[in-house]
Amino acid sequence: MSFSILIVDDQEAFAHQIRVRLEREGYEAEVGSRRDDVLSLLQERRFNLVISDMKMPQMDGLELLGEVKGKYPDTAFIIMTAFGSVETAVDAMKRGANDYITKPFPPEELLLTIKNVLEKQSLLHEIKVLRKEVERRYSFGNFIGKSPRMQEVYDLISDVAETDATVLIRGETGTGKELVAKSIHFNSSRKDRIFVGINCGALTETLLESELFGYEKGAFTGAMKQKLGKFEQADGGTLFLDEVGDFSPSTQVKLLRVLQERVIERVGGNREVKVDVRIIAATNRDLEEEVAKGGFREDLYYRINVVPIWLPPLRERREDIPLLAKYFLAKYTHMFNRDTTLISQEVLNEMMTCDWPGNVRQLENVIERAIIMAKGSSITHIDLLDKPKRTEGKLVEARPRYIPDLENLPFKEAKRRLIKEYEREYITGLLKRCKGSITLSSNISHLDMKTLRRKMEEYALYKEDFKSKDSE
Ligand SMILES: Nc1ncnc2c1ncn2[C@@H]1O[C@H](COP(=O)(O)OP(=O)(O)OP(=O)(O)O)[C@@H](O)[C@H]1O
Ligand SMILES: [Mg+2]
Repeated sequence: MSFSILIVDDQEAFAHQIRVRLEREGYEAEVGSRRDDVLSLLQERRFNLVISDMKMPQMDGLELLGEVKGKYPDTAFIIMTAFGSVETAVDAMKRGANDYITKPFPPEELLLTIKNVLEKQSLLHEIKVLRKEVERRYSFGNFIGKSPRMQEVYDLISDVAETDATVLIRGETGTGKELVAKSIHFNSSRKDRIFVGINCGALTETLLESELFGYEKGAFTGAMKQKLGKFEQADGGTLFLDEVGDFSPSTQVKLLRVLQERVIERVGGNREVKVDVRIIAATNRDLEEEVAKGGFREDLYYRINVVPIWLPPLRERREDIPLLAKYFLAKYTHMFNRDTTLISQEVLNEMMTCDWPGNVRQLENVIERAIIMAKGSSITHIDLLDKPKRTEGKLVEARPRYIPDLENLPFKEAKRRLIKEYEREYITGLLKRCKGSITLSSNISHLDMKTLRRKMEEYALYKEDFKSKDSE
């Protein structure tokens, strides 16, 4: 596509000279010198750019600038000013001109200015289109769920989106916490600004702090230059702190300070930097229990939990399952260019009775896989992975009970669960062998007694249950 440019100058010979040059460069160019001609040309077609002289007997460059920016905001504007009239150029820039050029100029200078302005303009246009696309994706229209519980969630999202209040999104894995965070942002007054997300659980304490707060040059070995943290990157927009329950005690203090004072300090710096950021946090942990156990600061809890939004697990809103299934069917059919368009009632019924420990994400994965495996145009079979399988009249689990569909969980969560299960099995076996003696168990396992007691409490293991009858 070639760019179209309108050249406006009362010196017609000069304007034509520019026109010839621009056409040689592959641009489409038109010339206008009389006021009426210029206005009707603008009305007839969309120009990507107008280059106009400042002072013309019939027309004022600034007036034309106002006209163009008012009616055709996507059209760029370059003003040509006489040598020595910098003030007018500055004035034009303030009123929205994209650039200016001082007469007389060599043709190369004009070409370079045009190129820069047009590049920037199409970049802006691209961003605008992308933003529209993103807005469309996170509007309520694309939130699937008609259950009363989800209706409540939509109401909350739209209420809270209008405010700047800190939001804490709660819910099991895969229930749509991130989707809610983005919806709040894209329905808020900050929607034209940036949405920055960070998964706080995936990072070590030092890494997390430098990611969040940035650092000064030389703050530590390897800090070759200053780096802005997520708080500063998100300035004016929204910062999504995912897995906020995983914050270490010292990072909790720092977060509390930001929430209270809205200032941050870069690592290795001694200057406060003001930040204007809307905070949305999410966790699938039991924060109240963490507070009770002392793992999560109570004051921070109250600062974060200003507006809580609880996302119900899928098994508590089963009426949404067929809707979601059909939605993902349409999504992946389109994505994989398949003609699978139907899902059998038997499969839907089966899906309705499942418990979906991985919630919407798991359902999405199951449909995606079913489409890939499907023969013909309808899905008549799904593979739920954690579905119990019948063998020789005996009910056996398809996989060990303690691995609830791990592949459908994010790696970190899967690992956490697996580790927990391993710990429980290990300590159970240990206590059995030691007949409930904590001293002996601690000796064998090299776990200190305090840790051992804490873990026993966590897994509801009581030493009394392991004492052999004859030792009592
Ligand atoms: N109501 C819904 N409608 C449509 N898609 C949904 C809905 N809820 C969740 N999803 C989709 O399910 C997937 C998981 O959602 P999301 O990542 O927001 O979950 P999460 O709660 O952040 O999970 P985790 O705790 O594991 O990070 C995403 O692909 C998301 O688009
Ligand atoms: Mg998430």
